[in-house]
Amino acid sequence: MIVITTPTGGIGRQVLDNVLDALDGATAVRVIARDPGRLTPRARERAEVFQGSHADPELLGAACDGADQVFWLVPPEPGADSVEGHFRDFTLPLCELTGRHGVRRVVAVSSLGRGVAKNAGPISASLAMDDRVAATGVHYRALCPPFLMENLLGQAAALRSTGEFRVAYAADRVLRTCATADIAATAARLLLDDTWTGRADVPLVGPDDLTPEGMAKVMSDVLDRPVRVRETTPAEYEAAALRFGASEDGARGLADMASAMDTQGFYGSSAPSTPDTAPTSFRRWCEETLRPAVLA
Ligand SMILES: NC(=O)c1ccc[n+]([C@@H]2O[C@H](COP(=O)([O-])OP(=O)(O)OC[C@H]3O[C@@H](n4cnc5c(N)ncnc54)[C@H](OP(=O)(O)O)[C@@H]3O)[C@@H](O)[C@H]2O)c1
Repeated sequence: MIVITTPTGGIGRQVLDNVLDALDGATAVRVIARDPGRLTPRARERAEVFQGSHADPELLGAACDGADQVFWLVPPEPGADSVEGHFRDFTLPLCELTGRHGVRRVVAVSSLGRGVAKNAGPISASLAMDDRVAATGVHYRALCPPFLMENLLGQAAALRSTGEFRVAYAADRVLRTCATADIAATAARLLLDDTWTGRADVPLVGPDDLTPEGMAKVMSDVLDRPVRVRETTPAEYEAAALRFGASEDGARGLADMASAMDTQGFYGSSAPSTPDTAPTSFRRWCEETLRPAVLA
């Protein structure tokens, strides 16, 4: 049995779709969803739904009872009082139940940066989550992407109206990227494979070595209009996050993340592409995902 968390989210929804596409019906699928109404009709029909948050230890325990594999994702929550506390509160109940309830394997979404990222806000918290879960002895795969291409979807309206997108990163430095579809495909492959053991990171780095300026050129081509990038500082990013409802710690965490990306380079050119796990190019993603969102 496979348990999937965040089945209504950008990544989890695609993981669930891929798993349902591949299953023959012999393996049961459970999902934990706060609002089952946001699941697709096929998901509601084929999966057993546990309503609530996977931060709830009782609900998580019930959903994982008898499960072999768990897809684990800690939701982004800049409004949480503490970045580290948010990841810890979600993850401790998982740590307590792995080993019990029969869970043998956990596939989690984490980040590139292990061994390099320091004081990097949610990235550091995510890497600490991996250590916590793996220390329980459960077989563990941490999916480690850099900057998600889907981050740009939040700027579709600005791209449409002003032709500008913002990034808290040097406009002329390589920023490695990954499409969430590739994370989901890799997660599903691992969830459907009961041969792997131990702990490992699975890097997911797309084929491009574009800077934000290079990304703007690709977007200009695909959207058939001029696109330019506006570089923002970590302090500006922090102020914007506070305006959009982040807590003080959440906003500081995002600024720390931006500073760490800039000074420590773990999302930069030193990360090699991984064609087996992240084949989607930025141009293809722009054609298939960004263009329809901007034109909508
Ligand atoms: N952004 C980046 O560049 C980057 C880079 C590396 C790693 N990551 C990681 O990638 C992941 C992003 O995931 P995503 O894109 O799938 O996020 P998303 O699209 O925002 O989806 C969030 C999901 O979490 C659920 N959720 C939100 N708050 C919850 C709560 N309190 N309890 C239970 N469920 C809750 C949402 O459910 P509802 O439908 O109920 O709202 C939704 O299913 C994060 O773990 C992040 O750390 C991001």
